[in-house]
Amino acid sequence: MTGSRKLFVKSFGCQMNVYDSRRMADTLAPEGYAETATAEDADLIILNTCHIREKAEDKVYSELGRMRRLKEAAAEAGRDVLIAVAGCVAQAEGGEIIRRAPAVDLVVGSQNYHRLPELIVRTSRNGPLVDTEFPVDDKFDHLAAPSAAAIRARGVTAFVTVQEGCDKFCSFCVVPYTRGAETSRPAEKIAAEVERLAAAGVREITLIGQNVNAYHGAGPDGRPWSLARLFERLADMRGVERLRYTTSHPLDMADDLIAAHRDLPALMPQLHLPVQSGSDRILAAMNRRHSCADYLDLVARLRAARPDLALTSDFIVGFPGETDVDFAETLRLVGDVGYAGAYLFKYSPRPGTPGADIDEQVDEVVKSERLHQLQQAVDRSQTTFNRGFLGRTLPVLFERPARRAGQIVGRSPYLQLVQIDAPASLLGAIADVTVTDMARNSLFGALTQSSSQDTSHVPAHAGTGA
Ligand code: SAH
Ligand code: SF4
Ligand code: F3S
Repeated sequence: MTGSRKLFVKSFGCQMNVYDSRRMADTLAPEGYAETATAEDADLIILNTCHIREKAEDKVYSELGRMRRLKEAAAEAGRDVLIAVAGCVAQAEGGEIIRRAPAVDLVVGSQNYHRLPELIVRTSRNGPLVDTEFPVDDKFDHLAAPSAAAIRARGVTAFVTVQEGCDKFCSFCVVPYTRGAETSRPAEKIAAEVERLAAAGVREITLIGQNVNAYHGAGPDGRPWSLARLFERLADMRGVERLRYTTSHPLDMADDLIAAHRDLPALMPQLHLPVQSGSDRILAAMNRRHSCADYLDLVARLRAARPDLALTSDFIVGFPGETDVDFAETLRLVGDVGYAGAYLFKYSPRPGTPGADIDEQVDEVVKSERLHQLQQAVDRSQTTFNRGFLGRTLPVLFERPARRAGQIVGRSPYLQLVQIDAPASLLGAIADVTVTDMARNSLFGALTQSSSQDTSHVPAHAGTGA
């Protein structure tokens, strides 16, 4: 194809969608589509959607209203605009989306992105199209890799999907239905992708998957590799300074992965390990298949391996049947673990999930009250965690300029945001920062004197990309 057309991709939901959106853009680049940051001048608009809670779904339909108006305005000016809906709403609702929002031209499910070039041509010729089958071929084998320039433009940290789908069937969750069964990518394909990213200047890699620690991809030795084995392979790679992973399920926290937190310096001391509730009764009703004591035992084993491990979690308040006593147990768990942070959600009944059919739904007012109380408990915990760093020195990987001129922002090993006064030439470098102040979500400080002149970590392109 010739000519340059403009592509606008907007991601909702989790990091898997962010990653997929990038791979869609990479795949459409050779077809003549250049990415634009504004929907107004786009010829192709892709909304990569999330179905996890009702609010997420509502957001998509309101965004589609805005896109319809843009499409109509473009048509009046004699310009065609195609609107595609991808991601989990596409997978869950298929053709229903076009019935509700007739401006949509294409609905593409989460496993079919490699077919986008062909689907776009067919849609432009023949009108609206829906493709939400789970195909036999692996989309990752067909999606194009990013160019070195695209990698640099995206900064010094990157996500790499290693695992997709989920077989856990928590009774509140749509993911097993929208992303399908658990599958893992072969280890060497992941290694090749990481190598490419590192060669282009990426310093930190986060391996992602809906159930990332259930990873069991084929190794080069023909055997399934665990996530820990994969980390060993990546940890030695030139240029890879920091490794992370998300999101993990407590049941899949294998001994070798716990040991990797002790043995691999590149594996950062930070773990997102959602527990959802502190009540055994609610955990059972959620089909989480572990007790609160199992979780605390796991946390103890993790901290034995890596005493400074920063833990975060997700919590759902107001799952059907949750009483004041159940909720008090969740509050107690937050106090016991000492989280570095947590994401909190009000339970949202999702069509097709077992939780939605339970009779004892919790009143919205009660959910809001519990959310507020739990937020206060988590905020206290986060503040305590961050306060522990005042006066200490932390190695920070600087990722981007701050909003305020003359400042840059990076991340500590514990994933805290750290903001300092420093020149943009430090972007992409890891430098020691002495922490002097804090807010709830970030730390502030100054370059530690002895290291401020040390540019040994600075990659050749620092300051040009991020
Ligand atoms: N695979 C991950 C994350 C799944 S979705 C995991 O197992 O933890 C991210 C978070 O959204 C979940 O951890 C859960 O806290 C929340 N969530 C999922 N379904 C929800 C629902 N129906 N209502 C409210 N929150 C929900
Ligand atoms: Fe959803 Fe549970 Fe699977 Fe996480 S583990 S994606 S919450 S079903
Ligand atoms: Fe949302 Fe799908 Fe991710 S439902 S959270 S975009 S897997």
